[in-house]
Amino acid sequence: MKFENVLITTDREVAIITINRPTKLNALNKATIEELHHAFKDLEKDKNVKVIILTGSGEKAFVAGADISEFAHFSEKEGGKLASKGQKKLFDFVENLSTPVIAAVNGFALGGGLELAMACHFRVASHNARMGLPEVSLGVIPGYGGTQRLPQLIGRGRAMEMILTGGMIDAAKALGFGLVNYVVEQEHLMDLCMKFAGKISNNSPVAISYAIKAINAGFNNSINGYKVEIEAFGSCFGTSDFKEGTTAFREKRKANFPGA
Ligand code: COA
Repeated sequence: MKFENVLITTDREVAIITINRPTKLNALNKATIEELHHAFKDLEKDKNVKVIILTGSGEKAFVAGADISEFAHFSEKEGGKLASKGQKKLFDFVENLSTPVIAAVNGFALGGGLELAMACHFRVASHNARMGLPEVSLGVIPGYGGTQRLPQLIGRGRAMEMILTGGMIDAAKALGFGLVNYVVEQEHLMDLCMKFAGKISNNSPVAISYAIKAINAGFNNSINGYKVEIEAFGSCFGTSDFKEGTTAFREKRKANFPGA
């Protein structure tokens, strides 16, 4: 698939996806959501890619939300479909990707933009980042998982405050809330994300994918997370990565995981 709104670059075992609609502050229109779905799907299949970093183009925005001009005239039915399709194609898809995804929040992350950052496995922000779920100011509610993931990440009371006021918080407050893990100067944002990506890349890709699955299971009411953990733990013992990891430890050398 040829991408128009998404750029992909690779740096050793790390792929960087840049949402590239800077004149619209990288707002998520339908085409961009579709392209992101395919970009993540392709990169997950690529065994050379150990980590994905997601960011926005330019210095102003990560993503300023879903593209308001596209849904302003939607009916109830179309609105529901927009949310369900988007959640399935992008937000749940990213959250459950077996390859870890770091959000490099380089500016405004509003509405669908913050929801996308929250669907990533963790977040690092630049000092100029501003985050919020302003949907109620438009007469809607967050529809890409925001009412679920924000309370999971920062607690119900803080999420209620953010969603009901529709206000933005700055990077320092987001750090205090635990919404982002680190805040750095914008010029150091990608370097810091690459540092984490490098550390992750040293580890077993199979174990990492099981860890993501088990952690996510704990936030799914219909699944017993402990049970998923036990099964995933057991499965690790049948992998070449486990053999290599334990052998390398005993041989006092760095593991070279086959990723299987
Ligand atoms: N959907 C569609 N277009 C958007 C957008 C969105 N969510 N966010 C920004 N844009 C567009 C603007 O319409 C403008 O386009 P134009 O130049 O063709 O008019 C361009 O991006 C630049 O935005 P602008 O508003 O001029 O920048 P600003 O610096 O004055 O304000 C924001 C920045 C982020 C505060 C402001 O753009 C904003 O409030 N955006 C909407 C945020 C939102 O409500 N998101 C949730 C959607 S559910």
